[in-house]
Amino acid sequence: MDNNKKIIIAIDGFSSSGKSTMAKELARRIGYRYIDSGAMYRAVTLYALEHGMILDGGNVDTTALTAALDDIRIDFQPCADGQHTLLNGRDVEKEIRSLRVSSSVSPVAVIPAVRHALVAQQQAFGKERGIVMDGRDIGTTVFPDAELKIYVNAPAETRARRRWLELQQKGDTDTTYEQVLENVVSRDHIDMTREESPLRRADDAVDLDNSDMSIEQQNAWLIDQYNRVAGA
Ligand code: DC
Repeated sequence: MDNNKKIIIAIDGFSSSGKSTMAKELARRIGYRYIDSGAMYRAVTLYALEHGMILDGGNVDTTALTAALDDIRIDFQPCADGQHTLLNGRDVEKEIRSLRVSSSVSPVAVIPAVRHALVAQQQAFGKERGIVMDGRDIGTTVFPDAELKIYVNAPAETRARRRWLELQQKGDTDTTYEQVLENVVSRDHIDMTREESPLRRADDAVDLDNSDMSIEQQNAWLIDQYNRVAGA
């Protein structure tokens, strides 16, 4: 039995930095709840798409979406293959990872009313502590008092190579490494320059550049960080 005190662990970083994989595995090893905050932005985006709130050209009907926020309930359910995201009770885990959702999520995630609603829900998930949450603004906005904050900071080239290899393994041989790198750099730019809660390293975060780490080395590093803080 783990006698460490229950803490909040915030893992922030760019897309394709491997933060979801590490957050999930850390939560599993220490018996904490894992919350994927990006999945929440994706679920709201799916709702907006399904209710005709994303207009031609990609603009979002902000007024309609803001008015609908009280009708959007997001939960997480443990499943055999990991945790699934529920949108108003419906399992949408697969749909929220689709290209359709990925292409529309950035303009939804910049809407202040959406962020306020989701940040409030994320804070409610952390009430009992004992959670690992990953995202962009977890250590800065959602849980500025988190005991352990990790900022994953692998270079764009490393992340693009990982994504490109993943695509190759999935049978996509058309997309070039240069195209993936361009996409990664442009998403980094959006994440860092948006007005509402941009991706920013919290002053008290611990940096992790996992470019040259194996998954096992990364997991061991995370457990060391956890023991350093929770065991103190
Ligand atoms: O991590 P991800 O790719 O699943 O995130 C999906 C989108 O949500 C991405 O555009 C960044 C945004 N996001 C955010 O703005 N704040 C968070 N805490 C998590 C994700």
